[in-house]
Amino acid sequence: MACIDNREVYISFLRKHLSKERFFHTLAVEREAIFLAERYGVDTYKASLAGLLHDCVKGFSDEELIRLARSYNIPLSIWDLSSPQILHAPVGSIFAREYFGIKDREILSAIWKHTTGDKEMSTLDKIIFIADYIEYNRDFPGVSHLREIVKRDLNSAILFAINLTVGYIMRNNLAVHPKTIEVWNYLIKEGKSVLNEIYT
Ligand SMILES: [Fe+2]
Ligand SMILES: [Fe+2]
Repeated sequence: MACIDNREVYISFLRKHLSKERFFHTLAVEREAIFLAERYGVDTYKASLAGLLHDCVKGFSDEELIRLARSYNIPLSIWDLSSPQILHAPVGSIFAREYFGIKDREILSAIWKHTTGDKEMSTLDKIIFIADYIEYNRDFPGVSHLREIVKRDLNSAILFAINLTVGYIMRNNLAVHPKTIEVWNYLIKEGKSVLNEIYT
């Protein structure tokens, strides 16, 4: 398994391949993920590594992401082909395994699911998904409320985040990714009073 001693290797790779803003975003996601891991009783080492590497291939071109996805046998949907940057999550997960030697399935899962979420998510998956939304550089309407909700309940925070995203998507006549709907339905079924949490 990759160890924290490799941190310099990861940082050096990220510095080289990410924009300055994306690099600092990555460090901020790692910090938020550790904070949430402590709060929700998840392994902070795994949260740290998943946060640090979640966008490891975000600097790659569309062509490179499609090429890597094909070489990793990742099924390409029409969504992936029309917006190849969405592939940075699954491609990043397998890249982390192949390039950095990370074998931990929970870390790889969290990287894989961080953009769209999935119909089944572990607590670590949820932490990375929401840390990506609320890290301290993020500034959008609703983010302060989202930061408050996440202190109380992860599911509610994800539902509120989806609510904000879908609102933006619909106001701008964009398409909603089917995974987003799956995650919404999954959390609504999984939760009991989560909707009350969102609006209180
Ligand atoms: Fe990402
Ligand atoms: Fe990110």
